[in-house]
Amino acid sequence: MDNWLNALAKAELHLHLEGALEPELLFQLAERNRISLPWADIDSLRQAYACHNLQEFLDLYYQGANVLREEQDFYDLTWAYLCKCQAQGVVHCEPFFDPQTHTERGIPLQRVIAGISQALADGRRQLGISSGLILSFLRHLSEEQAFATLAEAMPWRDSFIGVGLDSSELGHPPSKFQRVFAKARSEGLHAVAHAGEEGPPAYIWEALDLLKVERIDHGVRAMEDPRLVQRLVDEQIPLTVCPLSNVKLRVFDDMRQHTILSMLECGLKVTVNSDDPAYFGGYLNENFQALHDSLGMSQAQARQLAQNSLDARFVRN
Ligand code: HPA
Ligand code: ZN
Repeated sequence: MDNWLNALAKAELHLHLEGALEPELLFQLAERNRISLPWADIDSLRQAYACHNLQEFLDLYYQGANVLREEQDFYDLTWAYLCKCQAQGVVHCEPFFDPQTHTERGIPLQRVIAGISQALADGRRQLGISSGLILSFLRHLSEEQAFATLAEAMPWRDSFIGVGLDSSELGHPPSKFQRVFAKARSEGLHAVAHAGEEGPPAYIWEALDLLKVERIDHGVRAMEDPRLVQRLVDEQIPLTVCPLSNVKLRVFDDMRQHTILSMLECGLKVTVNSDDPAYFGGYLNENFQALHDSLGMSQAQARQLAQNSLDARFVRN
């Protein structure tokens, strides 16, 4: 399975770069930047990763991101992820980054974008991995702050291909960001949003109708609403599903209850993704492997999921 999976060409469309910060690199960067950490060592940090819901995870994720200070740090983080991609047959990626997680701590946006973009450019040249960067707004902050972030990023418009929406879903519906998404789309940016992870199907409807997104990130709760499933099938809207993340954050109690293969069989355009691999126990192939082990995913299903990911990318070479 391992070799076969590695050889299967895949794209990853739902990956938060800050969530690819492995404990080893986190400790290295803390030392390099002289930051003291609340964890005694790598093992205690790994133990802290046993979070049980989205908010518990996010608290840890924002705390971890605090070690990212210099352009080189953002480069190293992105490069480490790209090396994983190469090892696992990921030929294309469209990662997210959260500008506000850094600008709120006083890190200039230019530094963040420069480090990430340089690594993505080196990834194209040296590893043959094509990519497009997506700037994600934090939905627990205001739409006004999202507007300010978009304006601040516009001098680097050529460095990203789209906008997304992440962080705490419940209580922060897509409708809150309707105007800033309209502005982003008017700048020619692609649009995606997390919806239907912890939030209800109504949030997926809003993401489609109000934000006019082209892909839904997660979207697993669509299965509670047959009319919504029909629409997603009819329009072939890609859903970037993250199996290990969903089990870790208790969207499903157990991988054997995950509905991804039923979604695929319904005709939904689902893809497999790792979300925050450093926190959720694996990269793309560990997610595929889990579907094989717990749900009996066939090779034909794996091939279809991989093909969907290539079909659903925004950037084509
Ligand atoms: N959901 C919402 N926000 C996030 C996630 C997620 O899975 N990962 C990083 N930010
Ligand atoms: Zn996510």
